[in-house]
Amino acid sequence: MTSMTDSIKLSPPLPWISDQGQTGFVTEISRQHLTLDIFEASQASSGPNEIRVMVGKSQSFVFSGQSRLASPRTFRLMIHGADSEQQLHDLLGQVRKDQHIEICRDQDVEASDRFTGFQRVQFIPEALPELSFDDLNTEQSFLGTCFDYPILITGMTGGVDKGTEINRRLALAAEAYNIPMGVGSQRVALDNPEYAPIFDVKKYAPNLFVIGNLGFAQLKQDNYLDLCRRAVDMVSADALAIHVNVLQEAIQMEGDRDFTDILKRLETVCQSLSTPIVIKEVGSGISSNTAQKLLETGIAAIDVGGRGGTSWGYIEGLRSSSSETMELAETFRNWGIPTAYSLVGVRALAPQLPLIATGGVRNGLTVAKAIALGADLVGIGLPLLRAALQGEQETRDTLATIVRGLKVAMIATGSRSLRDLEQHICLSHPMEKNFDDIVQSKSFY
Ligand SMILES: Cc1cc2nc3c(=O)[nH]c(=O)nc-3n(C[C@H](O)[C@H](O)[C@H](O)COP(=O)(O)O)c2cc1C
Repeated sequence: MTSMTDSIKLSPPLPWISDQGQTGFVTEISRQHLTLDIFEASQASSGPNEIRVMVGKSQSFVFSGQSRLASPRTFRLMIHGADSEQQLHDLLGQVRKDQHIEICRDQDVEASDRFTGFQRVQFIPEALPELSFDDLNTEQSFLGTCFDYPILITGMTGGVDKGTEINRRLALAAEAYNIPMGVGSQRVALDNPEYAPIFDVKKYAPNLFVIGNLGFAQLKQDNYLDLCRRAVDMVSADALAIHVNVLQEAIQMEGDRDFTDILKRLETVCQSLSTPIVIKEVGSGISSNTAQKLLETGIAAIDVGGRGGTSWGYIEGLRSSSSETMELAETFRNWGIPTAYSLVGVRALAPQLPLIATGGVRNGLTVAKAIALGADLVGIGLPLLRAALQGEQETRDTLATIVRGLKVAMIATGSRSLRDLEQHICLSHPMEKNFDDIVQSKSFY
């Protein structure tokens, strides 16, 4: 668990103004206090007891409590009362998403060894495929819809500031390739309906297959069914993903710590909504045991979200200014079931269940491997987020390269359709077993 001294550094800091007219920046937030830099040294003998913190152009949060001098130009406002606690919760919710985007854009946020398990398998090439590129059929059906490629732009929050443009670029790219797209957690727009347009990607791409997104934390609220229905309506979702991210919540300073009663509520959601429900891990993978429990709830699909790619526990360490939390995050950076192992385990248990393999997939060859190992769709996050932050063309170009890699893997294995890929996958080349014996005995002529 995180220590009670855990805090989040704000970069850039947020401006504040007090009821007495003092001004400055909030530089750090913990669960108990805000660290305030104050502008005028002459005003700094006593600190403010009530401040308004500005976020963006239109939002502000009010905190009251007691200020303590921390250094000549820095106060700690120890917050008091349920109102301030709620404001702190809301403020953190606002800044968290923007921090995630910036950290994902600028830093190395993946498992340090990048091990997804897909490295363990390879294809046997076919030198005479008797196919042309035009013969390749990359179409794939998922939850009753046919797509041109087995690729999913996995759900990613774009934050309040950048979210609209990121989602627009991703949606246009998804539409151009006729592939499905997930949106990031819609929680912020359930709390603040004015943010709903950020997620409404069908306005750019009316025929897009959209997967809505909520966290397991929303299932713990009394009105969880209503929240699920509103999330579906908000984006006219064709499916609703509920993400589970225990590791991230457990390391995050302000994360949820109560993971009880999820399965029962998940079952109620599956029974009550006509929209298919997808359960989605975000980097720790789904074990066969967990999959068994999930199957009993009536879920429509699982995204195994395995280890090897974006490491959410580690990202929470990068957000924190506590060395203890960073150490914890380092410890868990490579936590989880590698994506390929999780995929194979769940597929063995549920031969017919629609499965998505997400987590560390970075090119078309890995997409082909995931399909060969039983995935229906292959989810890609980080590379597409980074491309979307650059521009519309960059997003399409990134997808184009992935699609091309998939086709190269197909033609080079002689796979006319995605289904054929499975026949060409192996753990080691068959010759490897006999290689030493044959060379030793010099019986190769
Ligand atoms: C910036 C960013 C924001 C994300 N936000 C969400 C989210 O709101 N909900 C969710 O279910 N997953 C979210 N994810 C997780 C991705 O859907 C995916 O499971 C994870 O990043 C692993 O895939 P990758 O290795 O290809 O990035 C996010 C990922 C990124 C990079």
